[in-house]
Amino acid sequence: MKLENVVPWGRNLEEYQKMFRLSKEDLQLKILGCGDGPSSFNFEVTKLNGNITSIDPIYQFTKDEIQIRIDETSSVVSEQLKQNQNDFVWKSIKNVDELIDIRLKAMNNFIMDYENGKKETRYIHQELPKLSFGNDSFDLVLSSHFLFLYSEHFDLQFHIDSILEMCRVSKKEVRIFPLLDLKNQKSEYLAQILEILENKGFETKIIKTDYEFQKGANELLSIKVHNKYEETNNLP
Ligand SMILES: C[S@@+](CC[C@H](N)C(=O)[O-])C[C@H]1O[C@@H](n2cnc3c(N)ncnc32)[C@H](O)[C@@H]1O
Repeated sequence: MKLENVVPWGRNLEEYQKMFRLSKEDLQLKILGCGDGPSSFNFEVTKLNGNITSIDPIYQFTKDEIQIRIDETSSVVSEQLKQNQNDFVWKSIKNVDELIDIRLKAMNNFIMDYENGKKETRYIHQELPKLSFGNDSFDLVLSSHFLFLYSEHFDLQFHIDSILEMCRVSKKEVRIFPLLDLKNQKSEYLAQILEILENKGFETKIIKTDYEFQKGANELLSIKVHNKYEETNNLP
């Protein structure tokens, strides 16, 4: 990953809670966020005394490098959003200016927390599809706005490997949001991935969320992995 290709863009805890339907109890679990980037999810969960680790390739960069990219790119992103306003649902967020304020606030909180969080190994430079953690290291493993969304950039095999890796390090559940790609279409990989997971004996469920900002993106994929060591009868 090259710094000049990074466009930092991060959501906050309220958005994560809505898109993943996170309950208060969920926030007490040991959580891994895959591709949390410059979101304030880790910062805000830590403030609530939660146990959270985030991995992302942008964590190879320094605080100053990420801050500079935020400053360089936020006006470009704002312009693009203004041109593509019809792709989004302006309900809980009223307009582009409010959206930019929310995102910049989340990213400021991330920047403030970043160096300390790196020391505390809450922000770790790692990349899907391979994670360094042992089997069952976390209760809940999340992916927000990375898998499925970038179906054009990452192929089916990358998605399969990444999702199975997330299942390996989780002892309870994996949740992924959204299920749409950047063209607001259901990811072309979803059906095949559901089949693979079901053949492995995992319990998959597509669940409606109250969160819809990208038009039509109002579903999450939940994968329950608690029975992953049981023999499956679904042999080919
Ligand atoms: C659109 S941002 C989403 C950030 C955050 N999850 C959110 O919802 O606000 C996508 C993130 O995926 C990260 N990413 C890119 N390649 C990745 C990989 N191979 N493994 C994990 N994360 C990756 C990017 O660096 C970026 O931070």
